[in-house]
Order: sequence, then structure tokens, then C-alpha cells
Amino acid sequence: MSKLSVNHLLGIKGLKTKDIDLIFKTADNFKRIINQPIKKVPTLRDITIANLFFENSTRTRLSFELAEKRLSADVVNFSSSSSSVKKGETLVDTVNNILAMKVDMVVMRHPNPGAAEFLSRNVNASIVNAGDGAHEHPTQALLDCYSIREKYGDVKGKKVVIVGDILHSRVALSNIHCLQKLGAEVRVCGPSTLIPKYIDSLSVKHVSNLKEALNWCDVANVLRIQLERQDVKYFPSLREYSMVYGINKEVLDSLDKEITIMHPGPINRGVELSSDVADSECAIILDQVENGVAIRMAVMYLLAGKIKR
Ligand code: CP
Repeated sequence: MSKLSVNHLLGIKGLKTKDIDLIFKTADNFKRIINQPIKKVPTLRDITIANLFFENSTRTRLSFELAEKRLSADVVNFSSSSSSVKKGETLVDTVNNILAMKVDMVVMRHPNPGAAEFLSRNVNASIVNAGDGAHEHPTQALLDCYSIREKYGDVKGKKVVIVGDILHSRVALSNIHCLQKLGAEVRVCGPSTLIPKYIDSLSVKHVSNLKEALNWCDVANVLRIQLERQDVKYFPSLREYSMVYGINKEVLDSLDKEITIMHPGPINRGVELSSDVADSECAIILDQVENGVAIRMAVMYLLAGKIKR
């Protein structure tokens, strides 16, 4: 198979395992290219891509923009805070106005779950979900699994625990889908108030004891507490959360084995990860960021191949 089964990347749930394998193999080629002195290829020279960010972002926004520029696409950037959305313009009107300027592909981050899917049904462009509320963040899960594959050779059979605020995390849901499609075993760890009730239906076990979870896993993907999405208190204080679920060198040294630490960023240093862990040899956090560019190049290259012009 040399084509994706989908015309948009809305979530990992809608992807086939063959799609993920194809994205990874394509990303291998792009990773080689972006590590050469000349990092740019003319592949998307006739394609125009709009990056629409209705929510804050550092890594995802810069990574998509860099990936698009490495592929020689024409790029326009839109941030809701400085746009006519502030004057009451709707999402569909905003995007249709941008598309009238002959845009082929839209990369969108939005606070509402389902916003990317809504767009895919209402506008005539290829849509890439760059994070929709607490729903999915598919390119993050792809780059996370790609980084595990790079470190261990394969994702299949690996034991991965996702630690922290699972309830408010689009990274957690996309990672669970992606890891399971690739044959990894997934558990979650955190206070029960931050674990969604539907977790059992995903065949994911909740382990409340951090040391037990870390002793079980090969990889711990550690998530930030998303205070901006929390309308009520889910635990007494950040200090208490950190005492029970924070990972520091002392915790890692007390384990029976070495594990790999991942984090999608942004890190709240001193809360979920101490600096001596975040900056240690066992952390592959900056490899994840580097791989994000290759993964996003692969996604956009493969989706562009499906655009009817
Ligand atoms: N990992 C991630 O989505 O980071 P940003 O919010 O900075 O894009």
C-alpha cells in the first residue's frame, strides 16, 4: 500500500495499522533528508497550507510550519487571538474565506473536541487535526510511537504507561489508540479523579501506584496537569500531586530496571518531572520533538497525494 486510507488526519482511531506503518516508513526518508546539509525538498511546491491555531501552541505550530517549509509548500499562519474570530466570525466562515484564497490543506488546533471532523465535513480541503480539545492529537501520538520504534526497533510488545492527567488529555487518547494498533500494551497511572470512566472499555488498566506502574513498563509517557481545562479541583494541591505522582531521580533509582521517559511538552518542571529526570539520558523528550518534523512531513506528503485538483 502506498496511499493512506484516509483523506484527512482527524484522529488515530480512524487510521489503519497499515496507514501508521506507511507514515513511519515515509518519515524515515524525511528524517534522513532533514539531517542532511540541504534540508529542503521540492515535493509540495504547488501546495498551499494554512495553519489555523485557535489555542496556544509552541511545538506543534512550529513543527508543522517547519515541516511545510522543508517540503517547499506555501504557508499561511492564522492565530485566533489576532483575527476576526474576535469580532464574532464563525469557524466555517473563517476557513471558507481562507480557502477562497486557494488553500489546499488546513492544519487546525481548536479547543472543541470534534472541530477538525466538523471542518472536514464542511469545507473542501484536506484537514489535519493538530489537537481538538481533550479528544485527539494524532501527530503527537504518531511521533511518540515513532520515537519508541526508533529507540527499541519496534513498538510491538512494548509496555507503555501514560502517567498523569489522562482525563483532560488528547495526547493520552491518541497514544492509547496508536500504541494498541501497533501491538503495545498500555496502562495509565494517576489519581482516580484524573482517569476517565471509559478507560476499561479501551482495555487499558489503571494502576494508582506510581512505583508499581514504573516497575511494569519499558516506557513512561508523562503528561502535564492541564489546569486550564480543569473547572473543579481534582487533587488537593500541585505539591501533593508531585509528592505522589512526580517522577524524580530518587524514584527512578528505586526501580528494579531502567526505563525510558517521554513527555509531549510543555513540561511543568518540579511537578510531573524533576529537571534531573527531564534532562537525563533516560529521557527522549527532544528526540520526540525532532521526530515530530519528520512525522508531520510524512503526513502532509501522503495527504497531498490524495488531493484532487
Ligand atoms: N505537545 C504539544 O502539543 O505541545 P504544544 O502545545 O506546545 O504544541
